Amino acid sequence: MTEAILTLANVESAYGPIKAIRGVSLVVTEGQIVTVLGSNGAGKTTILKTISGIIDPRKGSISFRGEDITAREPSEVVRLGLSHVPEGREVFPLLSVHDNLLMGAYTRKDRDGVARDMETVFGYFPILRERARIDAGLLSGGQQQMLAIARAILAGPALILLDEPSLGLSPKLTKEIFEIVVRINRERGTTILLVEQNANMALNVADHGYVLENGRIVMEDRCSVLREKDDIKEFYLGMKEAGARGERRWKKKKNWR
Ligand SMILES: Nc1ncnc2c1ncn2[C@@H]1O[C@H](COP(=O)(O)OP(=O)(O)OP(=O)(O)O)[C@@H](O)[C@H]1O
Ligand SMILES: [Mg+2]
Repeated sequence: MTEAILTLANVESAYGPIKAIRGVSLVVTEGQIVTVLGSNGAGKTTILKTISGIIDPRKGSISFRGEDITAREPSEVVRLGLSHVPEGREVFPLLSVHDNLLMGAYTRKDRDGVARDMETVFGYFPILRERARIDAGLLSGGQQQMLAIARAILAGPALILLDEPSLGLSPKLTKEIFEIVVRINRERGTTILLVEQNANMALNVADHGYVLENGRIVMEDRCSVLREKDDIKEFYLGMKEAGARGERRWKKKKNWR
């Protein structure tokens, strides 16, 4: 499959005078996991909020499944088959786990389909079944992340936007969550756009990657290629050896020795 499910063309978004993303163009191919890597403040969350209609872009256009969704209402974007798992999960703390999941399905009329998807997410995250009657606010951070992902699935989406699922989680839990993300992609055929600071995990699970710096895309390639690039190893994977090589090359370029 090589068809684009989501396309951003020259998208610019700002908070008052602060331009957070500056002319971002990217393509998410149907059936793939695509990642956007970037450090703190690079503009990752802003990209996702602009796609799902929480922020209206100043410039550019966004199309989803061939339809122009630029500046559409978030609820309408959900109806078209796009679910957003926000940064920091944002579950409803005073509702039970079960009711949080039902909130995910509020746009759907197919009760059988909802019941089936409920079983599927309990299969992915058995702890959510055990805790179904408990207030979501009482779950651990990792369990809340599971709930946020499960709630997104309950909307029956073709594309899930995932904002830093690893935030604040132990390496072990992060690995578990990423394994489920891959299963959702492979077993349900759901396309995933994942933004992450954890480049190591993201590059291991995604097919294609974009690197975002100061609101601009500075690099794009298949993840297998990105993993081997020295500047990615140095700045995003924290590999010292690559860092030393990169620095030597850089000094050479600048005629420092
Ligand atoms: N509500 C806001 N008001 C003003 N500026 C904002 C707001 N939200 C984000 N920004 C600014 O926009 C830029 C991009 O922020 P964004 O949250 O998209 O980055 P990010 O890549 O998601 O960062 P992080 O990895 O820390 O989540 C930053 O300079 C940030 O300070
Ligand atoms: Mg963010």
